[in-house]
Amino acid sequence: MSGLFPKNISAATRFCAVYGHPVQHSASPAMQNAGLAALGLDWRYVAFDVHPENLRAAIAGAKAMKFVGLNLTVPHKLLALDLVDVLDDSARRWGAVNTIRFEARDAGGAWKPLREFADVPDDIRTHGFNTDADAIARAIREDLKIELRGARVLLLGAGGAGRAAALKLAHEGVDELHLVNRTSAKAEEVARDIREQCPDVRVSVGYPETPVELLLNATSLGLKPDDSLPLDVKAFPLRMVDAIYDMIYRPAETPLLKAGQLEGCRVANGLGMLLHQGAKALEIWSGQPAPLDAMRRALEENVYGAK
Ligand code: ATR
Repeated sequence: MSGLFPKNISAATRFCAVYGHPVQHSASPAMQNAGLAALGLDWRYVAFDVHPENLRAAIAGAKAMKFVGLNLTVPHKLLALDLVDVLDDSARRWGAVNTIRFEARDAGGAWKPLREFADVPDDIRTHGFNTDADAIARAIREDLKIELRGARVLLLGAGGAGRAAALKLAHEGVDELHLVNRTSAKAEEVARDIREQCPDVRVSVGYPETPVELLLNATSLGLKPDDSLPLDVKAFPLRMVDAIYDMIYRPAETPLLKAGQLEGCRVANGLGMLLHQGAKALEIWSGQPAPLDAMRRALEENVYGAK
């Protein structure tokens, strides 16, 4: 598979894809194709708008067409837990699947990634991974220079992304974790799981009464131009926050990040998280270290425009 990245698609070209609904905003194709080119792989990465009702059929389609791998984004990450043949520990632990690797049996009967086969057998299985949780912790450390161990955190959102982030932060040893969600029953459920798995973390549902080092937005509020802020600033003013991480990367500056900057908070958008989850996915498919610089450059150009 290695060699020069061919300019033209041929019958030998292999495919990866991201499935989402909606998916047009995704910067993953720009980032992943830059990564594939830097690795010299004759693969392409495309995006498909897949309605949740069609997720099972769309995964089966990729399997039948011998795709190398898939990424899943909103709203598929929880659904996919029940749709893949095998779950990696990461998917089980963080409760969501954002990466699928297609695998076939070698001559000895062992399951291997499709990259290892020149002639891919028809009997293929799906192996589900989660690369989001590690990516969020890494991006927070890199972009905001926050040490998570011992930190006080307010996390907004308890959907797929919020849940994975909450569990990851708890396992990283944050001291206090305050969970706020529109549907508070979902935040209560995440809090229960954390109490069970990480009894040393002080977890509660609702706004804290004292300042926090990190405010993390894992809701979808901020994606649309007229969205309101994801937190109630009367209940918790932004001057009580040192730093804000918003998982949204498009727009690059959400109303929350703008408001935070006005209050003197350090801020970062979700670009770093997207980069690290995508880099890990590419490693899972290709078996090679991801070309991080090339992927980061393509991502920044896609989101901020050419420099
Ligand atoms: P993801 O996989 O990105 O987490 P999700 O599971 O659909 O997607 O979760 C979306 C999150 O944004 C949830 O926390 C959701 O709150 P609910 O659990 O109450 O649905 C939150 N969210 C979405 N729209 C919202 C809105 N208009 N106001 C407040 N929260 C909202």
